[in-house]
Amino acid sequence: MGECRMQKMLAFLSLMLVTLPPIYGWGTDGHSIICKIAQTRLSEEAADAVKQLLPKWAEDDLGSVCSWADQVKFRYRWSSPLHFINTPETCSYQYKRDCKDEDGEAGRCVAGAINNYTSQLLTYNSAADKAEYNLTESLLFLVHFMGDIHQPLHVGFASDKGGNTIDVHWYKTKQVLHHVWDTNIIETAEERFYNSNVDGMVDAIQQNITNEWADQVKRWETCSLNKTACPDIYASEGIKAACDWAYKGVKEVCT
Ligand SMILES: *[C@@H]1O[C@H](CO)[C@@H](O)[C@H](O)[C@H]1NC(C)=O
Ligand SMILES: *[C@@H]1O[C@H](CO)[C@@H](O)[C@H](O)[C@H]1NC(C)=O
Ligand SMILES: *[C@@H]1O[C@H](CO)[C@@H](O)[C@H](O)[C@H]1NC(C)=O
Ligand SMILES: *[C@@H]1O[C@H](CO)[C@@H](O)[C@H](O)[C@H]1NC(C)=O
Ligand SMILES: [Zn+2]
Repeated sequence: MGECRMQKMLAFLSLMLVTLPPIYGWGTDGHSIICKIAQTRLSEEAADAVKQLLPKWAEDDLGSVCSWADQVKFRYRWSSPLHFINTPETCSYQYKRDCKDEDGEAGRCVAGAINNYTSQLLTYNSAADKAEYNLTESLLFLVHFMGDIHQPLHVGFASDKGGNTIDVHWYKTKQVLHHVWDTNIIETAEERFYNSNVDGMVDAIQQNITNEWADQVKRWETCSLNKTACPDIYASEGIKAACDWAYKGVKEVCT
């Protein structure tokens, strides 16, 4: 085995042994876990609005529509830059510098999208409502992007496309680093610790929110500067977690 491959395996073994902090890595299960938990924590007013806005096929389950934004990425080509942020190989994030698409259009990144869809949803039940936006789509985008921005490698380096060009091993399978964080970590945890039962994992996280992490909850719920959403804070935490955890020990790309 080449030294390079060995290094990456070691990096991932040590990663696996670490107990994961709250919420990480978003394939379909990751997104659905986030939305299931979120739906139980809404105010009565917000819960009613969500119920009204959810499409019929969601059957009142926010978790079931949380990956809709990934499904429409190709139909709505314009939306694909809205799932992530690229930083210039640095472990910090700045809205002005980093929140743009490949053509340099400002605000076209996941932080800009969270601001965008939050302000659209704030018009719910107001005069501006109905006229301009499909608020069902605004809701489905928002709940998805709130998940994406918390996956460390969705705020990653432009040079490796958020870990998409870095090959690693996850146990016996070859994967790109980004996919490990989107999907593999969660699926392996489900299998190992929850008998492949997603609801068991949801329950365990909810119990932690009630107990272990109770003193952090106020901080998650409130946003400084009187804003309803604070994606810049999440993005800054994301790139820091990417450097401290996701990229750590992954030094070279072997092809
Ligand atoms: C804001 O939302 C509208 C409606 O979906 C969309 O056309 C536009 O591209 C979005 N812009 C950003 C930055 O999210
Ligand atoms: C709003 O968007 C949803 C999801 O794309 C779609 O099913 C629904 O028909 C749209 N509503 C209107 C009034 O266009
Ligand atoms: C719950 O919190 C404990 C203590 O921080 C941690 O060891 C455990 O992994 C957490 N469980 C989940 C499902 O996050
Ligand atoms: C926050 O909003 C309240 C009420 O709208 C206002 O009195 C206060 O000055 C605002 N604080 C900041 C930092 O903008
Ligand atoms: Zn996404």
